[in-house]
Amino acid sequence: MVTLKIDGIQVEVPKDYTILQAAEKAGVHIPVLCHDSRLNPFGACRVCLIEAVGNPRMMTACTTPVAPDMDILTNTEKLQRIRKTVIELLLVNHPLECPVCDKGGECTLQDLTYEVGLTKVRFDAKPADTPVDHTNPFIERDVDRCVLCGRCVRICDEVVNIQAISFINRGMETMIGTAFDQPWNCEFCGQCISVCPVGSLNNRVYLFKNRPWNLEKTDSVCGLCGCGCYIELETEGSELYRMGELPEKGANHGNLCAKGRFGFEFVNSVKRETSAKVRAAGELADADFDQAVVTVAEKVKSIRAQHGAEAVAVLVSPRLTNEEAFLANKLAKEVIGTGGMYALEPHSSLPEATYADIEKSDAVAVLNIDVTEANPILGLAVRAAARMNEAPLYVFYPSETALKRLAEKQFTGTPDEVYASMTRLVEGQGAEAAVLEVLKKAEKPVAVYNPYNTADLWFVSELKKQVPALKLAAARAKANSQGIVDMGALDAAKLKEGIQNKTIKALLCFGENPAVRTGWADLSLDSLELLAVTDPFMSETAKKASVYIPVATYAEKDGSFTSLEGRVQTVNRALCKGLKTDAEVVAALAARLGGSLPSCSCEVRELIRKEVPLYKEADFDGGVISYPYAVKGEFEKPAKAAAGEGAYFLYPSSLRLHSGSYTRWSPDLAKVYGEPKLEISPADAEALGLGDGDAVSVSAAGITKVFKVHVEKHMTKGCAALPEDYVDTAQIFSKGRYHKVSLGKKG
Ligand code: SF4
Ligand code: SF4
Ligand code: SF4
Ligand code: FES
Repeated sequence: MVTLKIDGIQVEVPKDYTILQAAEKAGVHIPVLCHDSRLNPFGACRVCLIEAVGNPRMMTACTTPVAPDMDILTNTEKLQRIRKTVIELLLVNHPLECPVCDKGGECTLQDLTYEVGLTKVRFDAKPADTPVDHTNPFIERDVDRCVLCGRCVRICDEVVNIQAISFINRGMETMIGTAFDQPWNCEFCGQCISVCPVGSLNNRVYLFKNRPWNLEKTDSVCGLCGCGCYIELETEGSELYRMGELPEKGANHGNLCAKGRFGFEFVNSVKRETSAKVRAAGELADADFDQAVVTVAEKVKSIRAQHGAEAVAVLVSPRLTNEEAFLANKLAKEVIGTGGMYALEPHSSLPEATYADIEKSDAVAVLNIDVTEANPILGLAVRAAARMNEAPLYVFYPSETALKRLAEKQFTGTPDEVYASMTRLVEGQGAEAAVLEVLKKAEKPVAVYNPYNTADLWFVSELKKQVPALKLAAARAKANSQGIVDMGALDAAKLKEGIQNKTIKALLCFGENPAVRTGWADLSLDSLELLAVTDPFMSETAKKASVYIPVATYAEKDGSFTSLEGRVQTVNRALCKGLKTDAEVVAALAARLGGSLPSCSCEVRELIRKEVPLYKEADFDGGVISYPYAVKGEFEKPAKAAAGEGAYFLYPSSLRLHSGSYTRWSPDLAKVYGEPKLEISPADAEALGLGDGDAVSVSAAGITKVFKVHVEKHMTKGCAALPEDYVDTAQIFSKGRYHKVSLGKKG
C-alpha cells in the first residue's frame, strides 16, 4: 500500500493505483474525458492534468501511478487556466451545435465546458463539412464532432476484441474509421457508442426520438439470451426508448450485444396484440380477459372430469420469470393436479463456471458452439481469457468463428468430422491428445458447450472424467432457460409423447412457441381439445390456439431471471402497456379452477425460498446458486452427427442479431437480418451455380423449403447452415439439429 495526499486529504491505496483512482478513493473530483474505468489508461486528452508539489511538470492523473508521500494538487489556479485552454483546443475540433446534437444533455465535453466556466472560444473552429456516415445500420458517425479520445477504438480492441475501427489518416486529418474507410463490418454491439463522450458516434435506433432528461431509468436484466446482462431501460410513459448500460453493476460490466442494445423495439411494436381471443366457428375472435380465462378454466375442468388430470399439461417458456414459472408449476400440480409443468429446455446440465472463472482460466475449450454469436457476453469472457490472460483457446465447431484470431487451434470440418475430433479429444488420441494434455495440466481449465445437443453431453461428461478440475459453462439460450428448470420444469419428451399418442387433451402453453422450436415443429397440435397460449405476439403456436391471451414482455413485469452462470437477478417493471403478466394469467386461472395463488412477485419469492431448496438462501440481487452437479446422466457415445442421405451437412447457425422468435419483431434488427438465409461456402456456391441472394431449395427428412443463399467465406466446404426459430427452418430441423441435405438452385 502507498500513502499520499490529494488536495490535503491523506489516502492509502494499493501501489498499482493511478492518481485518478487514489483521488476517487479520497473523494476528490478530477475531470476526465478520454478515461474509462473499463479501459487501459491512454492519456490522450490532458483534461485530467494535476500538479505534484515539488515537481514543476504537470502530469495526467489517469496514467500516472501513485508514489509514496506524493502531495497532489488538483485544482490550482494554474491548472484551472490550463484545463480551460485544453477544453478550448478540443472545441476547435468540435463545433458547438448542442441544440441539434443527439448527445445534448449527456455529453462529457458539454459538461466540462460548463465545469471550467468557458463561455467563449478564442480560436477559430474548423468548419464542419464532413458528411455524416450512415453506413452502419445502428451507428451514426459524425467525424466533425470527434475529439480523438480513442475510447471507441480502445473498447472495440480491448473489450470486444474485434478491432473494427481505428485512427486513420495523420495530423489534422486524423479521424476514426475502418481500414480503407470500408463500411463497418462488425459485431454491431454498440459498445463504441456507449463510451463516446461526445456526439460523434450516435445510436441510430434512438436518434432524434427523445432527450435524456425526459427519460425514466429502470435497472433490470435483458430478457433475451441466457447471458443475464444487467441493463437500464429508458422509458417515457409506455414507450421504451433506449437500452442503457451500467458498468458498475452486473456480471456483464456494462457490455451489451446488438440484440440487447438495439433489439428491444419489439416491446413497442404496433404488431403486438392487445385483446384476448377465443376460437369460435373456427376463427379466433376478440374476447375480454375474463371471458378467455373462464373459457380455459371450464374446458380444463371438463377434460379433467372426463380423462383425469394427467390429460391436462402445462408448458412454460424461458421468457417467464422464476416467479411466473414457480406459479405455473403450482397451477399444474396443486390446482389442476397433474404431474407438473414441462419446458423445452435441457435438464441434464447445470451451471458451473461463472464469467469470472472463464476470464481467469488458464485453458479454454469451446465445444461445438459459436459462442460469440449465440451468447455474446459469454463470448467476451472467453475472449478475455485468451487475450488478457493468454489462456490457450481451442475451438471445435464446423466453421471458423470470430474466435479464430485468438484460438490456439480451431478444429473445423463437417459435423461428423467435428464429432470425430471431439471424440479423439476425450479419448486422448491424434492431434487432439495434445489439447487434452494442456487441459489436464491447467490449474483452472474451463469448457463452454452447447447443452441443446444430447450427443454433446457425452463429450463434456467424458471430458470432465478426464479433467476433473474442468469447470463447465452450458451456453443456455434464453433469458430464463436455467430458472424454469430450477423451478421444477420437467423434461418435455413425455409431453411430446402424450400429445402424439393423444393422452394429453389440453395444453396450457405459457409464452412458449413450439411451432418454431427445433425438434418440435412437426408436432401436430390438432388432436388437442384445448390449446391455450399466452404470448406478447400472435406467434405461430398462438395462431393454432383455442384461446389466446396477449401478455407482458420482460420490460413490463417484476420478478427474476437465472442466467447461464446460475446468477439470480431481479427484473423490474419499467413500463406498462395495459397487458397482463403471465403471473396474473396463472393466478386468474387458478382462481377460476377453485385454487388460490398470489401474483405479486415479492410474495411468490418468499414461497420460492421456502419450497425450492436450491433457492433457500438465494440472493435475488445477483447471487450465484451453487448447483449439485454440472452434467448428470448416462450418455451414449454418438456414432455420427447427422441423419439423412444428402450431399451437404446442415446445422443450425447462431445469430448474434436474433434470440428466439421475439427479436424477429424488431424492425431495426430485421433491416440487417430479416429472413432466414442458407449459408454455404464460396466453393459450394460455385459448384451449385449459386450467388449471394439466389434462391435455393433445401430438402431434408422429406421436407423441402426454399431460402435465399448467403455465400460466407468462413463456411466449411460441404456444409450448410440455417438459423433456428423461423417457421420454415424449424420444420427443416424438426427431426433434429444435424441433417444431410440436398441443395438445388431454384428458378
Ligand atoms: S459496434 Fe462493437 S464491434 Fe462494432 S465498432 Fe463498435 S465496439 Fe467495435
Ligand atoms: S468517435 Fe467518440 S469515442 Fe471515438 S475517438 Fe471520437 S470522440 Fe472519442
Ligand atoms: S441478448 Fe444476451 S448478451 Fe445480448 S444484451 Fe441481452 S443478455 Fe446480454
Ligand atoms: S482523462 Fe486523463 S488524459 Fe484524458
